[in-house]
Amino acid sequence: MLLFLVFTLFVGVYSAPASNGCPDGGVQSSVNSSTCYLYVNGSFMHLEDFGGNSPPDGAEDYCRKYPNGHLASISDAFTNKFITDYLQKVIVTFGADPRSLVWIGGYAYCTQVGLGADCNWNWTDADNFSYYNFENGSGYEFFDTSIAIKPSTGKWFSENGKNLYSIICEMTTN
Ligand SMILES: *[C@@H]1O[C@H](CO)[C@@H](O)[C@H](O)[C@H]1NC(C)=O
Ligand SMILES: *[C@@H]1O[C@H](CO)[C@@H](O)[C@H](O)[C@H]1NC(C)=O
Ligand SMILES: *[C@@H]1O[C@H](CO)[C@@H](O)[C@H](O)[C@H]1NC(C)=O
Ligand SMILES: *[C@@H]1O[C@H](CO)[C@@H](O)[C@H](O)[C@H]1NC(C)=O
Ligand SMILES: *[C@@H]1O[C@H](CO)[C@@H](O)[C@H](O)[C@H]1NC(C)=O
Repeated sequence: MLLFLVFTLFVGVYSAPASNGCPDGGVQSSVNSSTCYLYVNGSFMHLEDFGGNSPPDGAEDYCRKYPNGHLASISDAFTNKFITDYLQKVIVTFGADPRSLVWIGGYAYCTQVGLGADCNWNWTDADNFSYYNFENGSGYEFFDTSIAIKPSTGKWFSENGKNLYSIICEMTTN
């Protein structure tokens, strides 16, 4: 009994640092220990500036409430696997379908619109866009300029940014 009490106290006292400075429900990245990821179950448009509509609940806006917060960028296969594993685990706790898409920070930045548009993929956190994991056949298409990940496979899809999906944010540990 005494041992049990001592054990309980020990756990009680030392459980606080176990959060690793990440928000509740978030995880510390295995690739970069200063970075957390947080899945947010809900209905968000992708970015905040579609045709001046400025929805107050844009996904990138939401993530910027956190320290150095952005929608998650994915620059290597390890991070893609880590995020996919995390999403598969966390999404079911919200009763969501692992095949439903989740916004990440990729978007097509175009120097002009319409015919002859010159577009590049970019990340909202300004990381270099050097790793690609699109589902076959998915890529830049007119109006489909926002990237979402499918938790069940880890593959990416280019989607209309006005679609409403849950999101995954990244932020610095505090
Ligand atoms: C999570 O999101 C899904 C899809 O929008 C919804 O069906 C589900 O009710 C949400 N879960 C909770 C706990 O809010
Ligand atoms: C988007 O990425 C391209 C390179 O692919 C870069 O030249 C450009 O400056 C980026 N645009 C923004 C807005 O970050
Ligand atoms: C991005 O790419 C450029 C050119 O390849 C390189 O000089 C720069 O260090 C890279 N930045 C990051 C954050 O990886
Ligand atoms: C995707 O395309 C590549 C190259 O065309 C092909 O080798 C691969 O089998 C395809 N994968 C699927 C799942 O269709
Ligand atoms: C690791 O994460 C921190 C905080 O998010 C960031 O400032 C730093 O650039 C990252 N390091 C690498 C090597 O990506």
